[in-house]
Amino acid sequence: MDPVQGKDPGKSTFAEYDYSNFYYGAGDDPLNLLGPFSDWWREARPNGYYLYSEALQSAPATRVQVRNGKTGRVQELINLASYNYLGISYRPEVKQAAIDATNLYGLGASGSPILSGTLEVHRQLAREMAEFKDKEAAILFPTGYSANVGFIAALMRSGDYIILDQYSHASIVDGAILAKSNTLWFRHNNPLDLERKLNKAKGKKLVVVEGVYSMDGDVCVLPEIVEVAKRHGARILIDEAHSTFLFGPNGRGVAEHFGLDNEVDFHLGTFSKSLGGQGGFVCGSRDLIDYVNAFGRSRFFSCNLAPPVAAGLLAGLRIAAAEPELRTKLWSNVAYLRRRFAEEGVDIGKSTSQVMPVMVNNDARVFAVAEKIQDRGLFLQPVTYPAVPKHKSRLRVSVSAAHTEEDLETAVHVVAGVLREEGIIR
Ligand SMILES: Cc1ncc(COP(=O)(O)O)c(C=O)c1O
Repeated sequence: MDPVQGKDPGKSTFAEYDYSNFYYGAGDDPLNLLGPFSDWWREARPNGYYLYSEALQSAPATRVQVRNGKTGRVQELINLASYNYLGISYRPEVKQAAIDATNLYGLGASGSPILSGTLEVHRQLAREMAEFKDKEAAILFPTGYSANVGFIAALMRSGDYIILDQYSHASIVDGAILAKSNTLWFRHNNPLDLERKLNKAKGKKLVVVEGVYSMDGDVCVLPEIVEVAKRHGARILIDEAHSTFLFGPNGRGVAEHFGLDNEVDFHLGTFSKSLGGQGGFVCGSRDLIDYVNAFGRSRFFSCNLAPPVAAGLLAGLRIAAAEPELRTKLWSNVAYLRRRFAEEGVDIGKSTSQVMPVMVNNDARVFAVAEKIQDRGLFLQPVTYPAVPKHKSRLRVSVSAAHTEEDLETAVHVVAGVLREEGIIR
């Protein structure tokens, strides 16, 4: 059956199709996309897709109250799914800063950052973020997504070349689409293939990499990438969404970790992961930031960050800077979980970071595995195609400095137990 032509009555479509099958609809009416998708969704949701977007009734801390998407019951679960890598967003100082900012400024910035929407708290946050990253200046965006889209499209033009890792985040891809440049893809974390692609590129060239890749948790082979890119006269943008505040002697990220902070041209990141807040940033020279201020459309055609969020981020940034022991605790939790998963025979792929994919590698079974895991007390979603390649489905664990050894031990017990029962591991 062709999913775009309609549903075959009586046939189960849930296991056969995924989101990518419903991208094109038959006929001339845009609404024709809806029918086959809705049929599939009505079956897919109770069969495991309900695990997405379940409503939390509490802060995204290490224990969460979650309303089960199928039963409607609220369960307390150990949270292995939130990006709150340092457990900062719900700290009392952060909440108080947000409350104080609400009292001072009210809810929103009520304007574009280049018109009326810049408040003192935004200035301070940008200043302290630049200091933290040891750069001349920083500029804020509403989200990490819009930072990539706005920055890439501000810098690159039609006729230029953007060379992307095959596993680049959607925001990087969308930035390249908006820039209308020629886009070339190199094999994931493969400097040899990058070289092949750079050999085909002419004129202005931008190579984009991520510090930590968010689906596999592997770290960019930055020294080799930088060497190749520089030899070809390409500029380098690093998206440190999952690595700022975590890697490097001062927590500046993977570029600092490799001692390449000054070799990388553009440093981008998000406040939504390690600080558990919202917003994106780019750091660099004063001239670069003034240029982005003038040409970053995703920023200035949008309202500035909400002041309670900006104030909470400022408090969170100060905590991350003042408490390096949070990073130490995170890395000891990562080492503990990695060792215990290895002892139990749980495959975490190529991960060398706080993002650990528990590989299931079975697109049909991953939902049943995830349901059992949630029923036994863990908050942990499945990730399937098209977010990851076909037959590489997984459950993506995010480790936090706030997890206790007991939380992690429970996680190992539940995950390994379910994978064994399901015949995924021995
Ligand atoms: C590499 C990367 N860049 C950018 C983003 C977008 O960040 P935000 O959630 O702040 O929009 C993400 C989020 O998943 C990411 O993984």
